[in-house]
Amino acid sequence: MQAMSDRRRAIGFIAVVAVVWSLSFSGKPQNNRVATTLDYDPCCGYPCGNQGVCMSFPDRSYECDCTNTGHYGANCSKAEFMTTVVKLIKPDPEYLHILLTSDLWVWKIINNIGFLQDAAMKYIFLSRGDQVDSPVRFESDHSYITLDAYYNETYYARTLPPIPEHCPTPMGVKGVKELPNLDLLMKKVFARKEFIPDPHDTNLLFQYYAQHFTHQFFRTNYTMCPQFTKGNGGVDVSNIYGLTEQHRRAIRMNSDGKLKYQVINDEHYPPYLRDVQGIEMDYPPHIPITEDNKFALGHPFFALLPGLFVFSTIWMREHNRVCDVLKNQHPDWDDERLYQTAKLIITGEVIKITIEDYVQHLSQYKVDLKFKPQVVHGTRFQFDNRINAEFNHLYHWHPLIPDGIQVEDKYYSLMDMAFSTKSVFTHGLDKFIESMATSRAGKLSHSNHPLVTLPVLKKMMENGRKLRYQGINEYRKRFALKPFKDFMDLTGDEALAKDLQELYGHVDAVEFYVGLLTEKDSPSLTPLTMVNVGGPWSVKGLIANPICSPHWWKPSTFGGDVGFDIVNSASLEKLFCNNMKSKCKNIAFKVPRGTP
Ligand SMILES: *[C@@H]1O[C@H](CO)[C@@H](O)[C@H](O)[C@H]1NC(C)=O
Ligand SMILES: *[C@@H]1O[C@H](CO)[C@@H](O)[C@H](O)[C@H]1NC(C)=O
Ligand SMILES: *[C@@H]1O[C@H](CO)[C@@H](O)[C@H](O)[C@H]1NC(C)=O
Repeated sequence: MQAMSDRRRAIGFIAVVAVVWSLSFSGKPQNNRVATTLDYDPCCGYPCGNQGVCMSFPDRSYECDCTNTGHYGANCSKAEFMTTVVKLIKPDPEYLHILLTSDLWVWKIINNIGFLQDAAMKYIFLSRGDQVDSPVRFESDHSYITLDAYYNETYYARTLPPIPEHCPTPMGVKGVKELPNLDLLMKKVFARKEFIPDPHDTNLLFQYYAQHFTHQFFRTNYTMCPQFTKGNGGVDVSNIYGLTEQHRRAIRMNSDGKLKYQVINDEHYPPYLRDVQGIEMDYPPHIPITEDNKFALGHPFFALLPGLFVFSTIWMREHNRVCDVLKNQHPDWDDERLYQTAKLIITGEVIKITIEDYVQHLSQYKVDLKFKPQVVHGTRFQFDNRINAEFNHLYHWHPLIPDGIQVEDKYYSLMDMAFSTKSVFTHGLDKFIESMATSRAGKLSHSNHPLVTLPVLKKMMENGRKLRYQGINEYRKRFALKPFKDFMDLTGDEALAKDLQELYGHVDAVEFYVGLLTEKDSPSLTPLTMVNVGGPWSVKGLIANPICSPHWWKPSTFGGDVGFDIVNSASLEKLFCNNMKSKCKNIAFKVPRGTP
């Protein structure tokens, strides 16, 4: 009896609080204008919290637009009632990350019970998807919303607009008046002193998968400026088939839906460049390469590194294998239909392998990730995606690259391998793949960037400054993480904290990429901010693919049950095992147990 009335009293109390609370802002003034005595644009200091939009006026006053942020108040810092309730239920992202990467019995249960697994994937897809603007709002040429951001697809999207011009410091109002010299930054923060292997046993199949996969949508048009892309908004498999119709036509066999191939040492390889008309590969003019070492691939860059050539060859073989399967099912189909349908199947395989093998390893989540787009059907998930300039910037993962690779009894340094696929033919494709599987990749952290690719990093940092990326803490806030309080909070390392303090003056002034790589370790392959900022862009890009949408995601799209099964059972291991001459061994994204 007593308990009953206590509960009623408690419910009554909560109801009264809720009503009073909601009344307290139902009459809030529309105009939140805040006067300041600053002598610069007050929006330079990012006063608006919780994704409120800052607008300044000539008298140096500003206004935060809190519409649809779930917050109110001059700086959008006060939570509305429902926001508070949701915040109470929602786990803190840092804590959630620790849970997801810990061996808990709850994951074992979820991994083994279908509907719980579906619920987990639905939560992951939706919560990540919600963090990405859809439709896109910003591009790199304006620090405010423009219609061009949406309609001009030559632009990469932007998640946070550029830092406004004419602020007191390069990063807004905090930190040094001039950003650190890039050579000094390379030396102090990024350059590898000694190779640091990745502690999660990551191998070179992973490193090259990352590069091969992401180059389909990271295609900066450098003849223009780094805010422009030549590519499309997601997983279009243009890294396998070619970006332009001319390129795609050039590498097609025009029969049975297949891609052109040639036979070398009894194995299928992509055709020589001289046997294909109308495409160019990125072979540098100053390097002598014989015609027998020039290949025509779906991506102009991919013949320059043997690991990328390996993936190109394997995917070409997979496409042709799928064509045979389809032709067996549909002997009446013409070349065009076989080609187009195989391409859809390949797209599905790429997404499946990326989620279930690649992201699984990258995140080190202990809950099994599953490619099940049907779990978001009928929800608020938007099947629309654009590539963000910041995503491209974030994905500069050169620390993964070791200084060289041992293949059988021969050691190749990075430069020995650059611009040539010769090593693949010296040892044979399978031997090369074996080496990739058993060689360790580097740790994705500061002080581990191979010296030979430092110029790439320097150029990228220059571009980041040109595009006026906001600092690491603004991105932390944008993705619901608490900003770093100071340099120790960021790095957890006294020497590095001291160096960064000298270089940047204030933790809010630390540049985006520098913050991503200097953050203390997390249980994933990368520090936490990289996971929680890159994760949403990545999940969104994978699940917003048209093949995942309700009217596409069905067997007929993939030529029937047989094709749909290929997609639904794809794995990294199968991809290689179905397309290697010898028995495939150790195919995974980590080196086999016992590797030194
Ligand atoms: C809003 O932010 C400004 C600048 O950070 C600060 O000076 C001011 O006190 C804040 N106002 C409120 C109501 O929180
Ligand atoms: C996109 O914007 C750029 C820069 O303003 C411009 O050069 C280009 O022509 C635009 N493209 C389209 C399709 O409007
Ligand atoms: C890259 O930009 C240049 C200069 O605007 C343009 O002529 C070219 O077509 C673009 N390349 C692609 C592949 O879009």
